[in-house]
Amino acid sequence: MENFEFSSPTKIIFGKRTEEHVGEEVKFYSSRILFIYGSGSIKKTGLYDRIVASLKRSRVEFVELSGVQPNPRLSLVEKGISISKQQGIDFILAVGGGSVIDSAKAIGAGACYDGDVWDFFPPTKPVTECLPLGVVLTIPAAGSEASQFAVITREDTQEKLPMRGEILRPRFAILNPELTFTLPAYQTACGCVDIMGHVIERYFTTVPNVDLTDRLCEAVLKTVITNAPTVLAEPKDYAARAEIMWAGTLAHNDLLGTGRIGDWSSHRIEHELSAIYDIAHAAGLSVIYPAWMKYSFKKDIKRFVQFAVWVWDVDLPFESEERIALEGIRRMESFFKELGLAVRLEELHISDERFDEMAEKCAACWSSMGNYQKRFDRPELTVEGLEKQVVKDILELAL
Ligand code: NZQ
Ligand code: ZN
Repeated sequence: MENFEFSSPTKIIFGKRTEEHVGEEVKFYSSRILFIYGSGSIKKTGLYDRIVASLKRSRVEFVELSGVQPNPRLSLVEKGISISKQQGIDFILAVGGGSVIDSAKAIGAGACYDGDVWDFFPPTKPVTECLPLGVVLTIPAAGSEASQFAVITREDTQEKLPMRGEILRPRFAILNPELTFTLPAYQTACGCVDIMGHVIERYFTTVPNVDLTDRLCEAVLKTVITNAPTVLAEPKDYAARAEIMWAGTLAHNDLLGTGRIGDWSSHRIEHELSAIYDIAHAAGLSVIYPAWMKYSFKKDIKRFVQFAVWVWDVDLPFESEERIALEGIRRMESFFKELGLAVRLEELHISDERFDEMAEKCAACWSSMGNYQKRFDRPELTVEGLEKQVVKDILELAL
């Protein structure tokens, strides 16, 4: 196990009708806030009215900023920064999913910074100042409600990059599983795959002796695998929605990464896809993970055997590690298909046309494409050349 520091300061308020107390939570920090949300789902479901009523009961004044789109745009973040600076905002309430929360984080950071907020993307320079944030979560997926990241798309260059900083973790997150009953099946499925992705990135480590976090990772993965089909069949199944919602937060608040070094190359490659093609984040992940795994499994086959046996209950005779590892990958791929997601780029109508550009952008931004690929022996390539080639090889396997 590696040395580590772990802090997950976000107060989690979990359960039925908890959003009705949002005003009391906000009032602890501020009486004048920015209230940010997406493209209208919270108005259709009645959540907007309950939030407003609670804020009014607690005498919290608010300025509204709506219209956050999935794959949230820098232009809206810039608008939010300008409103916050002009109106002396000192707290931001985000009501929605990862896109709304990430926009709130970037606005909070930009409001405390004199330069261009894009200076913080990619996260070579961590954010150290940000307005305090609160969250009412409506979709378990990105884990942004307790994470130290925000991912924003810059429209003019088609770049989608993260910023990071401990200060970006929200002060509180209200998680009511009932709020997720209205999610379309596709968004539910995408959320489940993103949650699994945050665990998979941490699970595939080359750090030895990480038994406790291996077991925690497997528990979160199995919880999602068991409950995802239930919520797709019965969208109002509170018990199953609750399991998935809590799994989503635990998958990405960094607990599962303690003492280990994760991979994250699949996430980086996916961000190139959603930056250009504006697909849902997990629609890209469900295509990239099978390809990344087929590309990587021989580098540490024992870990892939463990994944197959502990997570996917593969019960084949132990004569061939390769067969067991591949069976685990096959079961994961079938599971993504059962959820209704694509597992090949062609299903998303994406060709190899822009692979070079994606590989170029990935290699330019990241010093390594994950800890598995780093160990590849390709002496004919420079470090940057190697990284570009890795991205292209994985994208080609995903075709
Ligand atoms: O905008 P509205 O109308 O609210 O509709 C949203 C949106 O269309 C809808 N939705 C959300 N809750 C709903 C609902 N519809 C009905 N009922 C509800 N209860 O769902 C759609 C997707 O919302 P979005 O916020 O985009 O989803 P998600 O939470 O999956 O966030 C995705 C973004 O997070 C980033 C992704 O890259 C992507 O940009 N990520 C952020 C991370 C982080 N900050 O730590 C880590 C992740 O790996 C990820 O990269
Ligand atoms: Zn993700």
